[in-house]
Amino acid sequence: MATEDLRGKHVVLGVSGSIAAYKAVYLLRLLTERHAVVWPVLTRGAARFVGALSFSALAGRRAVCDLWSAAEAGEIGHVELAHRAEVLVLAPASADLLNRLAAGRADDPLCAIALATDAPWVVAPAMESGMWQHPGTQASVSVLRARGAHILTPDAGALASGRAGEGRLVEPEAIVEATLTAITPQDLAGRRVLVTAGPTREPLDPARFLSNASSGKMGYAVARVARRRGARVTLVSGPTTLTPPPGVTIVPATSTEAMLQACQQHVSGADVWVMAAAPADFAPAAYSSTKHKKSDDAPAPTVPLRRTPDILKTVNARSQGVVVVGFAAESHDLVANAQTKLQAKNLDLVVANDITRDDSGFGTDTNAVTLVSRDEVTELALMSKEALASEILDRVVALEHL
Ligand code: CTP
Repeated sequence: MATEDLRGKHVVLGVSGSIAAYKAVYLLRLLTERHAVVWPVLTRGAARFVGALSFSALAGRRAVCDLWSAAEAGEIGHVELAHRAEVLVLAPASADLLNRLAAGRADDPLCAIALATDAPWVVAPAMESGMWQHPGTQASVSVLRARGAHILTPDAGALASGRAGEGRLVEPEAIVEATLTAITPQDLAGRRVLVTAGPTREPLDPARFLSNASSGKMGYAVARVARRRGARVTLVSGPTTLTPPPGVTIVPATSTEAMLQACQQHVSGADVWVMAAAPADFAPAAYSSTKHKKSDDAPAPTVPLRRTPDILKTVNARSQGVVVVGFAAESHDLVANAQTKLQAKNLDLVVANDITRDDSGFGTDTNAVTLVSRDEVTELALMSKEALASEILDRVVALEHL
């Protein structure tokens, strides 16, 4: 199933009275960018911090603020909304809202919807640190958690009160990720997935290195989607500028040797290994601890290279029962070269990339690949890297006979 967007999903976005309510406007934008049908519902406190009009305009439908308003009820009643909701996102959730929800109150539209819905709850609290730590609030959080709510523990940092502490709303991107997780079947629950991503760097001197154009986007997408589907994910990452996916253990590795060591260490206990990294195949044969200086009269230095280890071949994880997915970056004879790599590197699946296409491969947000397994060759259409990550993991689940 597609796990990369919220297309057509009915999301009730409940906003309560907190200075962080302004961030809910951006959250609403992120949800609609993923094609969700968002129904904003504001408490009275929320409407004091941010105008309901901002939510109505961005959602394309009137924000619900009043339990008794005939006009709002005439459009769609709160009980109907509760039944329509596929996920309930409460962000920011104030101490007052948490306590009222735990008590099962139904004295405003948001609490009434929460009480009446069967949809999962994603709760992102935000408040003064003293309020967050108060035993009353913590007791409510425990009650809601025990009822199955996904509670996103607030971040620590500067608070609106001028003090520092725990209580900041988590980033809206993390709330979107939790929303996706809440509606995604957990078909990788209990599975351990190792993913590698990005390039490696082989140093020549303190200022220079040999590397390649890999951005890491494909591997990060696989890690994010595997986590979304319930897996415990370790992401061995070469140097990238990407934000680590929430809930994923990151292991940095700069050189191909370092990536090999990290993979050897973390593959033990893994069920699945997706090797999306582009490790440098060659390294300068010698490292100079002083910078190569250029001089007007001397010729440019020539740099002898040595081979780095092939990580997939060296680890040979398939022989230990791990489902192994490799990639193949090819400029010609795509399928034949991918089939050779499948055999030579002892893989279950090869994701073959045509690196001559502009919309595919290094640095892009999309990919058009051919999946080559031991018994099938499947050409896939151009799609986002997250959508491709879902496709790859679908094949993995089928291979694992879960
Ligand atoms: N790979 C690896 N160790 C390396 C280089 C690549 O494990 N030192 C992995 C990649 O992560 C990928 C697969 O091997 O999953 C194929 O990588 P690719 O760059 O397409 O092929 P190479 O094996 O490097 O061969 P060539 O460059 O000759 O195509």
